[in-house]
Amino acid sequence: MRVPVALGERAYDVVVADGARHELAALLAARAPRARVAALVTTEPLRAEPWFDLVTGLEAVVLTVPDGEAAKSLAQLEDLLERLALANLSRDDVVVAVGGGAVCDLAGFAASVYRRGVGVVHVATSLVAQVDAAVGGKTGVNLRAGKNLAGTFHQPWGVLCDTEVLTTLPEREIRNGLAEVAKCWLIEGRSAEAVAVTPRAGLVEMAVGLKARVVASDEREGGPRAVLNYGHTLAHALEALARARGDDVRHGEAVATGLCVAARLARALGRIDDGRVAYHDAVLAAFGLSPWSTPAYEPGALIEVMARDKKAHHDLTFVLDGPDGIETVAGVDAGLVHGVLERFEEER
Ligand SMILES: NC(=O)c1ccc[n+]([C@@H]2O[C@H](COP(=O)([O-])OP(=O)(O)OC[C@H]3O[C@@H](n4cnc5c(N)ncnc54)[C@H](O)[C@@H]3O)[C@@H](O)[C@H]2O)c1
Repeated sequence: MRVPVALGERAYDVVVADGARHELAALLAARAPRARVAALVTTEPLRAEPWFDLVTGLEAVVLTVPDGEAAKSLAQLEDLLERLALANLSRDDVVVAVGGGAVCDLAGFAASVYRRGVGVVHVATSLVAQVDAAVGGKTGVNLRAGKNLAGTFHQPWGVLCDTEVLTTLPEREIRNGLAEVAKCWLIEGRSAEAVAVTPRAGLVEMAVGLKARVVASDEREGGPRAVLNYGHTLAHALEALARARGDDVRHGEAVATGLCVAARLARALGRIDDGRVAYHDAVLAAFGLSPWSTPAYEPGALIEVMARDKKAHHDLTFVLDGPDGIETVAGVDAGLVHGVLERFEEER
């Protein structure tokens, strides 16, 4: 399955298939005919996986970075840039990110600034990377002041989503990615019953297809791309409070809560009815996601964080379902949100 991302001269394909990683050499030959070196950016644990058998057709240099979120710092960016230079990567050469969202974000950032920009290909190995992080061209690292505060837009030359490598991905990481898939499922309005009969590659393709269409219409997130933040206003606030309290909350768990609350908020605003809320609950359940797996936080504290959320434009802004589909709704009354959050906790 080949999903095109239609971005004119920056257009590329996302290949979704069991064994998609074996297309790497052909992809590099087609997109980087003058490349001599491929810098494979990955982590030590991933390099040890049985599927790490990548063939580039070029002189391959493997550069490892810390596993997980620890890769996403300015210090790691600097270190990676120095190692790309030591490997003598020229402007014609290519960076290949092999990993989850953290590796793709760091390697994409490095590729976008190394020699003022070289090509990058993502071999996305986590479900989050396959359905979200590797597609769309956003790169970034974290600052002490917050997540993803430094970054660039740098579209890859191609993305390989190999569903075979997901067999080694831990169950919690699978659920983490399934929350983003559920978000796409809800945006597309697909039936809850269809979840169980859709193979994993089909789920990835559906999410990639939606993201590719939205990115093609709004590359730099000025408008329509905001729909992909469905469930994320509350999710970001939950994650911020979890970090402050030292609670172990994965992004996807927060998104599942965020989607469930967004449905209840839309109902409180008269935008949707009980049936539509039940539909949201059924889709989340079909994906095996519990909206109550995140700890309970005080509604007032969540609202305070949401008001300063960068995507909320200093106002209580949510992406909500409604008669015209899922769209951005600004100026939502904080008192109403407080009541919805309280009632959500009573359902726990
Ligand atoms: N750029 C974007 O548009 C975008 C979108 C969504 C998320 N992100 C970013 O992506 C990051 C989250 O990505 P993530 O959830 O993939 O986290 P991650 O990259 O930290 O990976 C999670 C864990 O899974 C492991 N892993 C990955 N693939 C594996 C496999 N096939 N087998 C076994 N283990 C495997 C990783 O080594 C890591 O330990 C965050 O930093 C987030 O900000 C970026």
